[in-house]
Order: sequence, then structure tokens, then C-alpha cells
Amino acid sequence: MPVTLTLLHACFLLWTSFIQWTVSAPLKRPDSCPGYKASNVQRSDSSLTADLTLAGTPCNVYGEDLHDLKFLAEWQTDSRLHIMVYDKDEQVYQVPEFVVPRPTGSVSSDASMLDVSIEEEPFSFTVTRKSNGEEIFNTKGSNLIFETQYWRLRTSLPSNPSLYGLGEHTDSLRLPTSEYIRTMWARDAGAVPEKTNLYGTHPVYYEHRIDSGNSHGVLLLNSNGMDIKINDDDGQYLEYNVIGGVIDLYFMAGPSPMDVAREYSEITQKAAMLPYWSLGFHQCRFGYKSVEEVAEVVANYSKAGIPLETMWTDIDYMDNFKVFTLGEKFPLSDMQDLIKGLHAKDQHYIVMVDPAVAAQDYPAYNNGLDSDIFLKKADGSIYKGRVWPGVTAFPDWFHSNVQNYWNSEFTTFFDPETGVDIDALWIDMNEPSNFCEYPCNDPRVGDHGVTQVEISKHNIQDASPHVAATQALTLQPKVWNKIPHVHARRPVSRQEGSTGNGGKKKGLPGRDLIYPLYEINNHLGVLSNRTADTDLIHQGGWTEYDTHNLYGTMMSAASRKSMLKRRPDKRPMVITRSTFVGAGSYVGHWLGDNVSSWDQYLTSIRHLLQFVSFFQVPMAGADVCGFLNEATEHLCARWTVLGAFYPFYRNHNVDGQPPQEAYRWESVAAAARKAIDIRYRLLDYIYTAMHKQTVDGTPMLAPLWMHFPNDSNTLAIQTQFFYGPSLLINPVTEESSTSVSFYLPSSTWYDFSTQKPVSGAGKTITYSDVADTDIPILVRGGSIIPLRVKSAMTTRALRDQNFELWVAPDADGNAEGSLYLDDGESLVQDGTSEIRFSWDGLTLKMEGTFRFETKLVLKSFSVLGDDVRTYRLDEGLDGPWEHGVGDLELL
Ligand code: GLC
Repeated sequence: MPVTLTLLHACFLLWTSFIQWTVSAPLKRPDSCPGYKASNVQRSDSSLTADLTLAGTPCNVYGEDLHDLKFLAEWQTDSRLHIMVYDKDEQVYQVPEFVVPRPTGSVSSDASMLDVSIEEEPFSFTVTRKSNGEEIFNTKGSNLIFETQYWRLRTSLPSNPSLYGLGEHTDSLRLPTSEYIRTMWARDAGAVPEKTNLYGTHPVYYEHRIDSGNSHGVLLLNSNGMDIKINDDDGQYLEYNVIGGVIDLYFMAGPSPMDVAREYSEITQKAAMLPYWSLGFHQCRFGYKSVEEVAEVVANYSKAGIPLETMWTDIDYMDNFKVFTLGEKFPLSDMQDLIKGLHAKDQHYIVMVDPAVAAQDYPAYNNGLDSDIFLKKADGSIYKGRVWPGVTAFPDWFHSNVQNYWNSEFTTFFDPETGVDIDALWIDMNEPSNFCEYPCNDPRVGDHGVTQVEISKHNIQDASPHVAATQALTLQPKVWNKIPHVHARRPVSRQEGSTGNGGKKKGLPGRDLIYPLYEINNHLGVLSNRTADTDLIHQGGWTEYDTHNLYGTMMSAASRKSMLKRRPDKRPMVITRSTFVGAGSYVGHWLGDNVSSWDQYLTSIRHLLQFVSFFQVPMAGADVCGFLNEATEHLCARWTVLGAFYPFYRNHNVDGQPPQEAYRWESVAAAARKAIDIRYRLLDYIYTAMHKQTVDGTPMLAPLWMHFPNDSNTLAIQTQFFYGPSLLINPVTEESSTSVSFYLPSSTWYDFSTQKPVSGAGKTITYSDVADTDIPILVRGGSIIPLRVKSAMTTRALRDQNFELWVAPDADGNAEGSLYLDDGESLVQDGTSEIRFSWDGLTLKMEGTFRFETKLVLKSFSVLGDDVRTYRLDEGLDGPWEHGVGDLELL
């Protein structure tokens, strides 16, 4: 046979076997997998352990089945049970403890509300609530699959379950129960579309059982990409499909929904307490082109009589969007004058910092090179992507030098005397976002002679997520289609030895870190698309594949530390875009690039509640008036009023759209003045609620079902919410309407604006003629609310205002409330006061601890009702007292 023919033949054979191989993978269906068999089951007082071995022929659906596993259940507290299934040799990646510290503890199983049992073959486990025997989690009927790059675990659920959480998403607050896939993979998600993965990942769900009135929570502490499926096609179930890591579950027993939140806060570490002023009104936009323009906005707020607490500047202040630089329209001396001017009026200033550093000859990049902190490719060269400034390098937050590098850039650039004296920080693009599609072959990345200016222009005009998102909105529902890719394994040899920043690669060897066979439903297609390549290795051997979802939270932790270096005594405020489990202990979160639409004005509520009520990130809020597209006057007015009840209250707009500051329209200005007036008078009420969340995890905002766990009408409500423990917020939901119908759970209620009782509890009631400046607020009977007697133009001035109390009696005539006082900003307080008020119909009492020195007084208290009565008090806030109303002067 001629040589050429032999060669052709060989090529043909190779080609056909390649085709067969790619077409035939996966070899089997997951349902044919053999499952595991448990042996050596040992139960001690506080734990249950077992060995698991593969129960049959490996199915190797999306990798290779692991033969030997271990099962561990440990009772950590009376309400928390920890269950792990992991590989016997402990080679499989686990979320590093130094990134997400684990809760510890050990109690006797007798003391626990939960029990666990296992069936040996096929292996399954069941978690039950002891008090009523209800099964919280039961994996029977679906074999466990545990492979090198895929694991699957399914729990059956009662039909039509009430599930919440599993974010970040903009889907319904109560999750769909059929054909629902929640994908966990952090991505830059312009326009925050429903049914897609967004910026952060929080694989925790809360489940409420209306029959028993009990709630529980389940956290999967795993940072790998995953699809969590909720479906009812084979009985009702929830199924984890995860492309790495181990099964690391925390069960929280509740039994009330608020208990679950508090128990979760023990796992996430308590949320960071933020400064009092952070609750003020913030103004931002992408597209303020000069320091003069920023100053003008500040002045215009003042002219319009709208309290502006904090002015922000987006990446526009930078020189061609390079972090740690100032552009020519933002010279240092003018910036310093601006900031001094703000500070002189007790206002604040915040700017943005992105993680990606322009790969150009300038100090921040050169310092990064010197300290060797950038993510590297296997060949040791710096990994480059494309973000706002053009070609960029990405800090490796695992690197031992990275904190020093970040601190040093901060202490130089943000030096209070010689630099830009910011009061807080905004961090963004930390999924990390990269404008480059994978594989990033764009010739503009790298040294190909294209100028940075050209690249920057391209970024903004053609390739930015905003443009794509706006197109998605105006042209097609889905411009960002999945990027098609060849579904084939890379040769394993390419993976080996790629150690990037050094250290032995963590996790199982031989994995395909770019194209895992199980494809999660990432909205951007392949894992590496528009982010850092997943085969990059961080220092210490951590793969981007395993740790991608941690990037934003690691940047958050590092940035908080750098802010503390600058001002060690002050509470740092950092607002981030990407978050993971536990992020709230470092930062707050704004809800990303939403759209100026009626739809998203409402979506913001459920998006917000996820973070505050379920994920323990209390400082959260959406861009008021919407970011992408043009805001109308009417929408902006309503949104400005709704936003006054977000913990984080900031107007933010995209570059290129018409301005939308609150003073731009008279009706919006009026709405802002009125809403901020109410917000500020209530600021200590909400500050008290925020403090409580940071101490014990009680969510400062909550959906109705968390307050009324026995009322099935509340389960799906997502356009009303509790602001603090006692105020029910009910925004108008439709563009063309001035009325709103909303549900009023069974209780005593008072209208906030008239202070009079509202009837209709247990029913849907309607408020009509709700002006653009208004929002129906109902006060729950049984509460006492502290208010400042008057609002102010800044929170500093607000702190000089005296207090009054509103007493809203319940059906029995009783009420109680609390007030927390501190200096508002010190990390370590000299003394704080935690005051409790109570009312029994005749006597008002104040008790508690009184260590915060203040000359402020409680001027009066009003008892809400048909006939509102206000009594003069003039009592200090420095010691306990009680007054019978008979002795008080009626005002
Ligand atoms: C990102 C942010 C957005 C910001 C923009 C420019 O899209 O989400 O808030 O304005 O980048 O920095």
C-alpha cells in the first residue's frame, strides 16, 4: 500500500474514533449509576460516620466514579447538623477555611432538634425533625453519583414546596417548583435577567412547611459551578449537579423562619456593622465627565433642598479607566477641594476600584509585577484579559503578597492628606468580569500594536456589557446566546504541570478545567467565557475552576482590610458586586446593572430580600431609578420613594443615558424630599434593626411569610416587605395606577401617615390616590417605634435631633420596641446603649443598658389609634424610668 494511503487511512481511523468518542460521551445516563454501599457505620454521642464504596460498575457519566467515600454527620449545636460526603483520600477540592471559615461545635445528638439516619444499600440518608418526624432531607430513591468532575445528590420534597434563596437571581422570591434550574457561576450580568446566573453565588435555601409552620435551611458550602434543579417530574425534588468539590451540607433546624436566618448567621459570620452615615442618601453615575460636573451635582442637590449624604464617582475619575490613577479632568488638587468641601458640610465621598489592572507601564501595574501578584498562565506569563482600560492583568487574591500590594496602593492613592480621601469604597467587575470571549484570541489583547485608546473605545462602544445588555433589551430577548463549543476533552497532558503562581495544584489531578463534561447552564456558555480562564492556577495551587465563585468575596475581604489600614478605628464601608457565602461580614452589595423599567423596579424587592433576609448581606440595594436605559420622571419618582426603604439607598445611572438625579424633575425632587424625610426620621429605628442583624442575624428586612409563618397567603408575596420589625412597606406596583391592593396579615395595623388604625386584616386592602411622592406604610400593632423629631440635611445633623416614640398597641393594648445608640462610626465603641421600651396601656417603661453618653431626650410619645394621644416626656436616654400616663401632660 502506498505510504500516502496508509497515512490517510490512519488519519481517517483516528478521526472516526475521535468522532465516536465525542459523540458517545457521556457513556451512560446518570440514572444508571450504581450508587454506593455504606459499611462500618458508627454512631457516637455527637456524630455518625460510615465508609461508602461504589456499589457496582462505574458509570463514569461525566468523569470517573470515585470508589471510596466517607460519610460524616456531626451535631454541632442544638439546631445545626453538619453532613459531609467526601473522598477517602481527601484529594478533592474543598472551599479553603481561610476564605470561608467554618462554624464548629459539638453537642450530643440528644440535644438536637434534628436526627439523621442512613440506609446502607443503596446508600441514602434522611434528616428528620424530631419534634414531628417530618423529613427535611431524604436522598432515598436516587443514587448518589460522585465523580472526578461531577456529583449529584437529590432530596425528595413535599409537593409544592415553599423554597427561597439559592441566589443570586431575579426569579420569583418563592422559587418555582417545576423545571427550575438555578445555576451558580458568578458572572457579569448586565440587565440582571431572570432565569440566569448573576453576579454572586449563595447555595443556601430556606424551606417553609406551612402545615407545621416550621422552617429549616440547607446550605451547600461549595464554590464550584453547579446547577440546582427543582422539579416535579419524578415526584417533587431538589437536585444538586455540581462539577467539583465535596458534599458539605449544613442543616439549620429553625424552627421559625427567623430562627433559620439567625442560625445561618452563625455559619456566615455575623454581618459587618456599617457606619450610621451609610444609611444616608447616595448619588452616583457612570459618566460624570469632570470634577466640576461632580461638584455641580452636589451643589444642585443643596439648591434643591434634597439631603445628599454621599457623592460617588465611577471609573470616569481615572486616567483612561486605569485603577489608582486620576484623569486629566479630575486633577488631584481639584479632587481634594471637592472632598474637603463635602467633608466641611458633613457629606461623604466614594469612588470605584476595579480588580483588573491595566497592563501598561504605570505604578499600579509595575508594583503588581514587582510583588508578583497577578494571575499567571501555565507558562509563567501574566494572564491578560480585557476590561475597561483595555488589556488588563488580574490580582490573584490567593497570593501571599496581594494584601500588602493592595494595602500599599490604597495607602498611597487614598492617603487622607496627600491623596484622594475617600470615606468608603465601591468595588466592581469582580466575578471577575472580562470583556473577552473565551478563548481570548482577540489580537487587541497582548502586544499587537493597538493603542490603549483604541481598545478603550472599542470596549465602550462595542464590547461593553452595557451595550450588549441594552441591545438585549431593545432588540432581542437574548443577545448573549450561549457560545457554542466543541464538547470534547482536552488532552490531559495539557492540564498537568500548569502551576501558574506556584504550589502543587489543588484538587484531583487530570481534570479538564475548561470543558468539564457536565455543562452547567451558565448564561454565558463555557465557564471561562467573559471571565478568567478556569484552567488558571492561583498561588497555593488553587484552580480558578474551583475558586471562581470566591473571587469577589476575596477581593472584598482584602479591600476591607486595606480600608482598615487607612483608618483603623472606623467601620469600613465597602460595596461590592460579586458575593459568596459570608460576604456580608465584610461588605454590602448593590444589585448590579438593572434596567430603568417598571418591571425591574418591582424585581428589586425580591432581589434585595434574598440578600438581606436569606444571605446575611444586610447592606443591599438596587440602583434607584434604574441603571440601563432611560428613566422616566414617573418611574424615577416612584423608585426614589421605594428606594428610601432599601438599606442601601443610591441613585445610579449608566453613561450615555439622560441624567436622573432626583433634582432633575420637580416631582422626583418632591418625592425625594418627602421620602428622605421619613427615612431619616426613622434612621435610628432601622440602624437598631441593622445592629441587631449584625449581633444575632435577625434580618432587618423580611418578606411577610417570615413574620407570619402560619399564614399561607403570605408565602408568595414579593412586592411588600417588612422594613425593620414593625413597618410594612407596600409600593404601588403598576405604572399607570395610583392605587395599590395589598395583603394585610392578621394583626392590628396603623397607617403611618395618619397614625390611625387600618381595618381589613386577613384580607387584601386597597389604597387609592397614592401620589408619586407617597408609599403606603403600615405600622404593626404591638410595636414601639423611635423617631427623630425632625429630619435634617445630613445624618450628622440628624444625630443632634431629639427623639419621640410612636406606640402602636396590639389587640391587648400592649407594645414594645427598642433603640440602639452608639457614636455611629467607631469600630470599637466607648459605650453603647441598648434600650427597650414597653407599654401596657397605662405605663410606658424604658429599661436596658445606657453606656452611650448623650444629652438627647425623648420629647414625647404618641399612642396611635382612632384618637391619637401625644404625651410630653422630656426624658433623657441615660437611665431607666417609667411613667404612668396619668402623671403626664397631654400635648
Ligand atoms: C459596571 C457596574 C456599573 C458601573 C460600570 C462602570 O457595569 O456594574 O455600576 O457603572 O461598571 O464602572
